[in-house]
Amino acid sequence: MTNTMWGGRFLASPAAIMEEINASIDFDKRLWRHDILASKAHAAMLADRGIITKKEGEEIARGLDKIAAEIEAGTFSFTRALEDIHLNVESRLAELIGPAAGKLHTARSRNDQVATDLRLYVRDEIDAIDGLLAGLQLALAEKALLHAATVMPGFTHLQTAQPITFGHHLLAYAEMFGRDRGRFADARARLNESPLGAAALAGTSFAIDRDATAKALGFARASANSLDAVSDRDFALESLAAASIAATHLSRLAEEIVMWTSPQFGFVRLSDKYTTGSSIMPQKRNPDAAELVRGKTGRVAGSFLALLMVMKGLPLAYAKDMQEDKEPVFDALASLKLGLAAMTGMVGDLEPDARAMKKAAGRGHATATDLADWLVRETGLPFREAHHVTGRVVAVADSKKCDLAKLALEDLKSVDPRLTEDAFSVLDVSKSVKSRSSYGGTAPGNVRREAKKWIKRLKKAAGSR
Ligand code: ARG
Repeated sequence: MTNTMWGGRFLASPAAIMEEINASIDFDKRLWRHDILASKAHAAMLADRGIITKKEGEEIARGLDKIAAEIEAGTFSFTRALEDIHLNVESRLAELIGPAAGKLHTARSRNDQVATDLRLYVRDEIDAIDGLLAGLQLALAEKALLHAATVMPGFTHLQTAQPITFGHHLLAYAEMFGRDRGRFADARARLNESPLGAAALAGTSFAIDRDATAKALGFARASANSLDAVSDRDFALESLAAASIAATHLSRLAEEIVMWTSPQFGFVRLSDKYTTGSSIMPQKRNPDAAELVRGKTGRVAGSFLALLMVMKGLPLAYAKDMQEDKEPVFDALASLKLGLAAMTGMVGDLEPDARAMKKAAGRGHATATDLADWLVRETGLPFREAHHVTGRVVAVADSKKCDLAKLALEDLKSVDPRLTEDAFSVLDVSKSVKSRSSYGGTAPGNVRREAKKWIKRLKKAAGSR
């Protein structure tokens, strides 16, 4: 039996293990839409340039549409013997339209074909991810507006630091996801070049029009070097790097939700929609969705590293190693999309316990810095000295096992006679957050303004999408 794919030169079939290691159809069938789209653009260009006849071009287009309908309907039979999506489609095309099918592969190779397909796939994923990131930002901003004045403890080193507002905390994530969108947009701009027509590696002797196929597929331009065109996977690496950072942001927020919902914190409650019970402990309400968002970060970052290691040390131009690009790309981007959707749902769902948060904000001498600032403002002490004085006040409070605000005026005076009744006014947590009105600070007025700005901007952009 001759080999069905390579005909002529190959007399024997591949070893069974060869099919096992070589075939990519099990996963790259995911590229079918993009493969057919690119083939249609290529065939139309070949017909326009007179490289194939108009009639052949039309037959090919009709056959490809038929294949798309079969795949969509689930009636297409994919076969491993035909290696990958490209050869599965081409072989079916031959069954459907006969010899004209063989002309589709004029002036191209699977090397530029797969590079084109994957770029188109990643571009669609980037667009979907951008929409999901924007949706998450909107959910954060809307929750932030509701809780612009909800006081909670702010932490550094996970030690009570200073009172902040819950809205301010949520808007920090809106900023982070905004940068993620910027990174994806940058990657998209560099991705948007068409490799189609670079052929195997050297270009082609046919008088093709690469600008025409680039334009038909929505690319900004044709890539300028055919070797680079077939061997570049930067667009995938950049997208996975951006995905890894975004997943890390998701993971940090997920971790905070896990902590906040634990009875030890008791800051936030998630409804039945995003939690699960325990099969043995009836009291449990587990934040599984948050934990899985956090957990999936490993897959995303791992995929980035996997592809980086595949590419390391590959000589120009194409090498079959690059077939290993697909699974990390598919898995990482799908995992990120899932995590974003779940997180958006959780952010909308979560209900803070404002009383518990405020109470916690008052513990741990969170307004000690406010007292030091008072000393600077009211007595002219240098901050460093005011810091020492306040430290001694904190020590007194600790020895009496009470919070700063519960100390008697004599306690303050015993440390420094310049401390007066008025000093107590800055120890209140609500006053403390209100006073932090410097640009970017946690004051409720700031948070309200920023949240509204985000909501307006995001709704406007969503409207024009
Ligand atoms: N399935 C292959 C891949 O994903 C397509 C390109 C094959 N090219 C080749 N010269 N064998 O990389």
